[in-house]
This record gives sequence, structure tokens and C-alpha cells, in this order.
Amino acid sequence: MKKLISTLLLAILTVFIVTGCSGGGSEVSVGIVLPTKDEPRWVQDEARFKAALEDSEYTTEILFSQGSSAKEKENVETLISKGIDVLIIAPHDGAAAGSAVEAAKKEGIKVISYDRLITDTDAVDYYVTFDSIAVGQAQGQYLIDNVQGSNVPLYLYAGAASDNNAFLFFEGAWNVLQPKIADGTFVIANSSEADALKDKATLTRDEMGKILGQVTTNWDPNEAKNKAQTNLTAAGADLKGDVAILAPNDGTARSIADVFATDGAISSYVVSGQDAEKASIQYIIDGKQSMTVFKDVRTLVKDAMGMAIDILDGKTPQTTGSYNNGTIDVNAKQTDVIVVNQENVKQELIDSGYYEAGDFTGLE
Ligand code: GAL
Repeated sequence: MKKLISTLLLAILTVFIVTGCSGGGSEVSVGIVLPTKDEPRWVQDEARFKAALEDSEYTTEILFSQGSSAKEKENVETLISKGIDVLIIAPHDGAAAGSAVEAAKKEGIKVISYDRLITDTDAVDYYVTFDSIAVGQAQGQYLIDNVQGSNVPLYLYAGAASDNNAFLFFEGAWNVLQPKIADGTFVIANSSEADALKDKATLTRDEMGKILGQVTTNWDPNEAKNKAQTNLTAAGADLKGDVAILAPNDGTARSIADVFATDGAISSYVVSGQDAEKASIQYIIDGKQSMTVFKDVRTLVKDAMGMAIDILDGKTPQTTGSYNNGTIDVNAKQTDVIVVNQENVKQELIDSGYYEAGDFTGLE
């Protein structure tokens, strides 16, 4: 009996030592850091990661940074201490995240920038992203295709200047909107900086920065709402009537749309969006938001995890191009986007199995 117990103890001890040492002592092999739980977009990513990882043999942990670069750094340090080999990270602030990923790189961890590019550092190995210029182009084009006549007031809004994507979205939109401002289809309603640059087909990053300085929402629906209110209070009758609104994403689109909807001098508005958030799908069904750009997060998750697994297996991930982050060209895999409006919302988001019909009312 004694012998049996000591053999058992030895066996247990061996298991402890072996598991403790496997994977270089790592409890977690892939660490995932997302910017905030306050925006449905990133909660969507969390859910899609969890679904993709259900039967995975790899251990992963997802942490949220709650809109704070300090918290983000802390999250990365926690994951480093858990022995991760790969870090997948969507930064809160693209430049500020540099020091967090440099700490990871020092430990030999491979870094995958997720959706948002981490800038001004060489500590990023890969980037998985949607075609963000195409997102902005689709938003701008939708406005062009859905207004009538000329001198249509155009209200511009943008994302946070700390997010590289905000520039790409704006650049894409400007590419198509600028010629239509030049030909008199639109008149800029809420940005003197954009107005001063309206004859320039291509803007530098600094020039875009000036416009963003006036029209940023910081990705915050509340800030967007306040800005829209201020803009409408300042606007004369010539800037009301039938208007077009470039809103950078769904969260801001809904709050901006709500403000425009309650202004008696606005007779109609076309407003863009992005992310296919559930609340915006309902707004589209109800005719309160004109369009959204559907970015199939499942693909981004699949690409990021595919890269991570390749790295863990000692293989080199496949990429399709590269993005310059101010310091290096980061090898990237890019995914296309789909424009969704009232006409195709059911087909693209319900029939495709992305969302369930029961989550919405008034679907035909
Ligand atoms: C962007 C992202 C968008 C949107 C926005 C606000 O970087 O690409 O999908 O969610 O941030 O979080």
C-alpha cells in the first residue's frame, strides 16, 4: 500500500513538473489584447475569437484595455508573464502601443497587429486588416450615389487621430468625395480646414490631421453627438435641408443620425457607417442609418489565429502585401469589405448566418 501511494505521488509530481516545463513554462500560448469592451465592434471580435478557439488545442487569453494605453501595457506584461509565444493586439493608440510590443519583442514574442496598425516601431511582425481605404471609399461613394442635385451640404466626421485607420478611412472617402466637392455636388458644411483643402485631390497626413482635428469623434458616440449638435447649431439654413453625413463607424453614425433626425430644418439625410453592429443593422432596417460597411470579423480572427498557429509551428505565415508603419514595412494580410444597406441587409447578414433573424424586428 505504502509503495502504491509513493508511486502515485511520484506520478503526480512528474505530471506537475512536465506540464510546468512544457512550452517553456507557458500557461498561455497566444495572448490577445483588444482596445475596449465599450464598443460593440470589439465585443464582436471577442465573441468570434472565442467561437474560433472552442476546440483549439492552443491556450489563449483575451484581455481588454478599456481605452487606456497604460492598461494595455499592463495587459501585455501580464501575458508576457504567462509565457505567451504570440501576441495578437489591436492597439488603443497606435503609436503609444509601441512600448508594449517592444517589451514583448524583447522576450522573443511575435507580434501580430490586429485591425489597427501599431506605428513608429520595428516591434511588429505581422498585420491582419481589412481594406481600410476601401472602407472609406465605400462610405464616400454611398453618399455620392444617394444624393440629388448640387450644393448638398456635406457634414464630415472622422475617427480618433491616435488610430491609423481613421486616416485610411478618411483618405478613402476623400478620394471619391473631393472631385464631387470640386464639381459642386457637395459643399462642406462643418470644417474650415477641409474647405481650405477642397481643391487638393490627395492630402498629406498632416493635412488630414488638420481636418481630423476639427471633425474627430475620437470613436466616441457621445463626442460625436456633441459635435453634431454644435455643427447644426452653427449651420445656417443653406446648410440644412437634404444633407449628406460622412460618419466613420456605426457607433458614431447612430448618435449623429439621432441628432440630425431631431433637427426640424433637416428634411433628409444620408449617413454612412461601418462595422455592421447589431444596433446599426436595426437602424438600417428602420431607415435611420443609410448604410454600413460589413467587415466579416470571422475572417480577421481566422487570419490572425492562422498566423499565430503557423508561428507556433515554426512556419512562416502567408501575407498578401505590406503596410508601412512609419518605421518598417509590416507584412500584412488584407480582407475585403461589403457594403450593406436596406436592400441587401437580410442577404448579407442574416441569410449568411452572421446574425440571427430573431435579433431584429421589421425584417422582411
Ligand atoms: C477602427 C476599426 C473600426 C471601428 C473603430 C472604432 O480602428 O477598424 O472597425 O470599430 O476603430 O473602434
